[in-house]
Amino acid sequence: MSTNKKAVLTYGDKTLEFPVLGGSIGPEVIDIRSLYAKTGAFTYDPGFLSTAACSSKITYIDGDEGVLLYRGYPIEQLAENCDFLETCYLLLNGELPNKAEHGDFVNTVTRHTMVHDQLSRFFTGFRRDAHPMAVLVGVVGALSAFYHDSLDINNPEHRKISAFRLIAKLPTIVAMAYKYSMGQPFVYPRNDLSYTANFMRMMFAVPAEEYKVNDVLVRALDRIFILHADHEQNASTSTVRLSGSSGANPFACIAAGIACLWGPAHGGANEACLQMLEEIGDVSKVGEFIKQVKDKNSGVRLMGFGHRVYKNYDPRAKLMRETCHEVLNELGLHDDRLFKLSIALEKIALEDDYFVSRKLYPNVDFYSGIVQRALGIPTSMFTCIFALARTVGWIAQWNEMISDPEMKIGRPRQLFTGAPKRDLIPMEKR
Ligand code: CMC
Repeated sequence: MSTNKKAVLTYGDKTLEFPVLGGSIGPEVIDIRSLYAKTGAFTYDPGFLSTAACSSKITYIDGDEGVLLYRGYPIEQLAENCDFLETCYLLLNGELPNKAEHGDFVNTVTRHTMVHDQLSRFFTGFRRDAHPMAVLVGVVGALSAFYHDSLDINNPEHRKISAFRLIAKLPTIVAMAYKYSMGQPFVYPRNDLSYTANFMRMMFAVPAEEYKVNDVLVRALDRIFILHADHEQNASTSTVRLSGSSGANPFACIAAGIACLWGPAHGGANEACLQMLEEIGDVSKVGEFIKQVKDKNSGVRLMGFGHRVYKNYDPRAKLMRETCHEVLNELGLHDDRLFKLSIALEKIALEDDYFVSRKLYPNVDFYSGIVQRALGIPTSMFTCIFALARTVGWIAQWNEMISDPEMKIGRPRQLFTGAPKRDLIPMEKR
């Protein structure tokens, strides 16, 4: 970890040295943990543009090269060769499973797919037109009221059981949120189906009609899950870590992550992207829309474009674009109005100097919304699907943090710009 290098800082009349740490790959970091003690000053870095808040062995991103690795494996290889549960095992355990380990893992996840029957009554407390993410935040948070036997965060066995419960129950809860919004009865899990096929059946089967599993569509959704499974220290993962740093239980931490994911700059982008396509409406309006995006005063952004870390190309977008074509071929939807519109938008944006000079490329959400819509998943459910997939990443990161001997409660500092100390004036004199 530590290198022979030192970073030298001159502050006032002091010259201070700070150790430089090196990871296995990626930029070195200057260890400034002793800065405050040595100088009485803090660093200022809103949005964490230059701050590593933890060390991690799970996911690596090289934004300039468009590289995403889960435990060292390129996302392209995982998306081609593995299914989602294999990827979950990898993220949680650090290695890919052998056949026996995979069998055990799938078996355990499968046996945890049902939720406590009383949990289903929570849904009726929500309005039918509630946003499914509002329901998801509430119901996932409520899991901590049901599974008291796995809440001791210092017990690795408890942490393991909670991880299984969350990974297994999220599809059931997400499907229940959807069914509730539709006014349809809940569909119980069927354990002879794969994780993803089971989820699709819980979403789309009705008592009057069995759902026919289509392997191409299941594979497409499974790929969406793999591509969204982890993404190192993004906003929602950092939220899970920060919540967990206080010792909060894993269900509460994942609920916090879901709340953060909901925002349109993060997981809500695929929903916002589809809404944007609907609003543009037609290929003939693309030019006018791009003009608005380029006008700083309009406040309009091209949703599904740009990324804080990927300044080359989002490797997930490449894979999702492929999947998008596969699904639309399978369903004979290549003439779909919104799909054609998105292709026109993509073409213009990739050639326009505004986007090229700012390195704004399509991100995964630009295509995943189109794929999900083709699968029959309504726009309002997109972020729930993201949350379902990201749950494993959140748990892996939370678990890594809890097991880290250097773990401390997260407590950022501030540059205070408010009123200094002053005396209160009684109301009659104000
Ligand atoms: N449309 C138009 N202009 C943009 C966009 C966009 N989507 N994204 C960035 N810009 C411009 C921005 O106006 C700024 O221009 P200038 O330098 O002239 O002021 C420049 O590009 C840099 O933007 P920024 O806001 O400093 O970049 P950021 O790294 O803080 O923001 C982002 C990253 C993802 C929040 C932003 O690109 C965005 O809002 N994109 C649309 C929402 C979206 O698709 N989000 C999904 C991200 S992928 C899913 C995930 O991993 O969570």
